[in-house]
Amino acid sequence: MWERFGLSVMQRMDPERAHALAIAALKTGMLPLGGPVTSPRLATTLAGLPLPNPVGLAAGFDKNAEAIPALSRAGFGFLEVGAATPRAQVGNAKPRLFRLTEDAAAINRFGFNNEGMEAIAARLAAAPRLVPVGLNLGANKDSADRAADFARVLAHCGPHLDFATVNVSSPNTERLRELQGRAALEGLLAGVMEANAGLARPVPVLLKIAPDLEEDALAEIAEVARASGIAGIVATNTTLSRDGLSSRHRGEAGGLSGQPLFERSTRVLAKLHRLTGGTLPLVGVGGVASVEQAWEKLRAGASAVQLYTGLVYAGITLGARIAQGLDARLAAEGKTVNELTGTGVDAWL
Ligand code: FNR
Repeated sequence: MWERFGLSVMQRMDPERAHALAIAALKTGMLPLGGPVTSPRLATTLAGLPLPNPVGLAAGFDKNAEAIPALSRAGFGFLEVGAATPRAQVGNAKPRLFRLTEDAAAINRFGFNNEGMEAIAARLAAAPRLVPVGLNLGANKDSADRAADFARVLAHCGPHLDFATVNVSSPNTERLRELQGRAALEGLLAGVMEANAGLARPVPVLLKIAPDLEEDALAEIAEVARASGIAGIVATNTTLSRDGLSSRHRGEAGGLSGQPLFERSTRVLAKLHRLTGGTLPLVGVGGVASVEQAWEKLRAGASAVQLYTGLVYAGITLGARIAQGLDARLAAEGKTVNELTGTGVDAWL
């Protein structure tokens, strides 16, 4: 009830202001949130990390790690905050976030606006949490050595993290995606893994990739990922594709998320599952807004899923509702999440 009212107000506001209001409301700690959803069927692990359920919050919603206590009570099985860069940066000029209501989608070109790793580490250190919390690592736009930025953020924030994600797939920092190429990626991941080994308690390091990669590039990434010792891959970030959109803002520059991304990102997920022989944990992200879609991502090879844009249209408890729906369906089929992962890969190849 409170959620539907909040949504109807926010959907009439400028999207970036609505998002700031959502974070402010969460920070009050006064929203009636039910806590993490779990059951013996839902409880699982991601790269060795125990999760109460496999439905996580995707990066970019809580960029500055401001609302971890409330978000960890919203029903999600895990949270990814950030992206954090070494130094604070303002990001691109506004407007830079657009709702594509008719397409149940969004376009953003934020460009890693964030308060920087020091402010974010301090919040991470202080935040009580009920579920694992990871950090999305980014690079400063004007950095002389972007690859080194990822390692710096991990070295600084690592002691307060349960996992970290190397984000070389945002379309909103010029040339960032070039770091997905073999040589650049090998060097970058070597630096990140060295920083990780230097932590008193190394964390699982994931790699987040774009949905716009060709088959050869995906095969290369799978190879580099395995050789580098990373713990898993997050597939996918937002897309540059604009296929099949009808909303007025479809021509805006930036990354597209939400429903139009579902099929594209699920295909990439399934291809990665095949390329890695199911040996590398995968997180399925892109257009998850229903139990059915979360189910499909798991079947396509995901050990866990994440969502963001669905929250814009269905509210902050969408993750909890999807986790509950998954549990009911798993109970009906007599399965656990683990037993579901990868059982329908071929349908997406
Ligand atoms: C994002 N996303 C994102 N990803 C990332 O790795 N680092 C980031 O800082 C951000 N920032 C961000 C801001 C906004 C406004 C949106 C909508 C998205 C991408 C996000 O984590 C996710 O990969 C995609 O949005 C696809 O999932 P959904 O939104 O379709 O569920």
